[in-house]
Amino acid sequence: MQFPVTRMRRLRKTKQLRNILSETRLNPEDFIYPMYVKEGLEDGEKEHIDTIPGQYRYSVNDLVSEAKRLEDMGLRSVIIFGMPLSKDEKGSSAYAKDGIVQKTVKKLKEETDLIVITDVCMCQYTSHGHCGIIRNDEIVNDETLNYLSKIALSHAEAGADIVAPSDMMDGRVAAIRKTLDLNGHYDTIIMSYAAKYASSFYAPFRDAVCSAPSFGDRKTYQMNPTNSLEAMREVELDVEEGADMIIVKPAMPYLDIIKGVKDEFRMPTIGYQVSGEYSMLKAGIDAGYLTEASIHESLLSIKRAGADLIVSHFVPDFLEGLETCL
Ligand code: PBG
Ligand code: ZN
Repeated sequence: MQFPVTRMRRLRKTKQLRNILSETRLNPEDFIYPMYVKEGLEDGEKEHIDTIPGQYRYSVNDLVSEAKRLEDMGLRSVIIFGMPLSKDEKGSSAYAKDGIVQKTVKKLKEETDLIVITDVCMCQYTSHGHCGIIRNDEIVNDETLNYLSKIALSHAEAGADIVAPSDMMDGRVAAIRKTLDLNGHYDTIIMSYAAKYASSFYAPFRDAVCSAPSFGDRKTYQMNPTNSLEAMREVELDVEEGADMIIVKPAMPYLDIIKGVKDEFRMPTIGYQVSGEYSMLKAGIDAGYLTEASIHESLLSIKRAGADLIVSHFVPDFLEGLETCL
């Protein structure tokens, strides 16, 4: 009888061996935590987001306190989403100097050392819920660029370190870069949602921030889930236009895209584990089908695919100590 000379199982025998031989490790600095701020909420009145269980909408002060608590546990970066009191056709509350995101950014920069990222889009601020300006029931590209630029500039003026356009209009990175530079914000970083798919996994988020479109869908601007070559073209354009970092979104159903983008462009690459990915895992765990180890495994898969950073609603769970899949 011939014995196998090489035994792969030798290196898997104990937890200690598996641990020291891990090719991929998750660290607190790998994470960006998405946080929601709602205009008009009183301090101490945080609202539970039922579609993203365990996550909350906060007042400015409460968001900053929670961010500080997580910073003490090792968090380095947050991305902020706002819910304004008033919406209109042009999303004017998105670029108001004293808008809800602008106020939050200012306070976070004053009171923490966190890297503050803002989501630059119009859908939470427009009465129709689309990510751009509407003419004859169409989302018009070029006019929207002016608004996105104004929003990004107002975030930079409030002190944002990084602006992250998530609208998927053509030419927005170039437009935003130009506006920032003309106003002296050369060092504001652009983290582009370059490969953002028209995904059903955003549903819990849209419910959470009331940003579902009132007619139609987002398929004329967000990407077709069938395509990967198109993702490479989107990223290539955004890099040419001046993007500093690239987001692929969602993450787990698009790990091939994360890997492809990282290998091809070698840019700082971010995997965005979206609301639906989070809520799906949470529901599975609550129902007893999965365990916390599935959370660890899902985050690990995103990093292993090539993400340098991960946006995830699981950040507090990770910082508080997750059961691992090792
Ligand atoms: C806004 C935006 C969305 C998400 C991030 N920015 C929703 C959308 O495009 O419909 C999704 C976040 C999530 O689901 O966690 N354009
Ligand atoms: Zn949007």
